[in-house]
Amino acid sequence: MNRKEFLLKSSISVFGVSTIGTIIQQADGTFNGDCETTNDILGPFYRADAPMRSDLTTEGLKGARIFLQGKVLQSDCQTPISNALVEIWHCNTEGEYDNDSPDFNQRARILTDSEGNYQFKTILPGKYMNGTLYRPAHIHYRVSAKNSKELISQIYFKGDPHIEKDPWASKPKAQLRILDLIPADTNGNLSLNFDIYLKDI
Ligand SMILES: [Fe+2]
Repeated sequence: MNRKEFLLKSSISVFGVSTIGTIIQQADGTFNGDCETTNDILGPFYRADAPMRSDLTTEGLKGARIFLQGKVLQSDCQTPISNALVEIWHCNTEGEYDNDSPDFNQRARILTDSEGNYQFKTILPGKYMNGTLYRPAHIHYRVSAKNSKELISQIYFKGDPHIEKDPWASKPKAQLRILDLIPADTNGNLSLNFDIYLKDI
């Protein structure tokens, strides 16, 4: 481990892992004490009524393919939620959102299965300017389920140089939403896991 890696790893300390989640002490000394997924801004590019589908790719679409999957779980951190509605939207590799086409490109909704699982095939989004700064690459989420509070959030990707100055991705509460992209095969496709823990109503 070199010095930079050590500093990165020592900026958070894991105090314990149990069936009810992980307790983490942030760099500022505060604790993030349970598994609840934290919220993020909705942003200006949300569109209602995206198609119900799991594949957001089309032939000729630019961008590395990512297989994004995870579970939706209750606030006890372990009970899966079936039939939760998981909605994602993001920009293309040029940093553009589809705000008006009937194709709803890079937008989709899906219901979790009986084990709480969801999965999407999509592309790694690009970045876009927000004022004078680039927003780091991100995927927006909106998740709802019976007896749970609706969650609006975003995920980011480890190693993105724009996270540090982004007002939302740099917040301590976003730390558990900055995720590893893992090679899915030898063809450049990527895999990403994001489990979502909803609050009770
Ligand atoms: Fe966005």
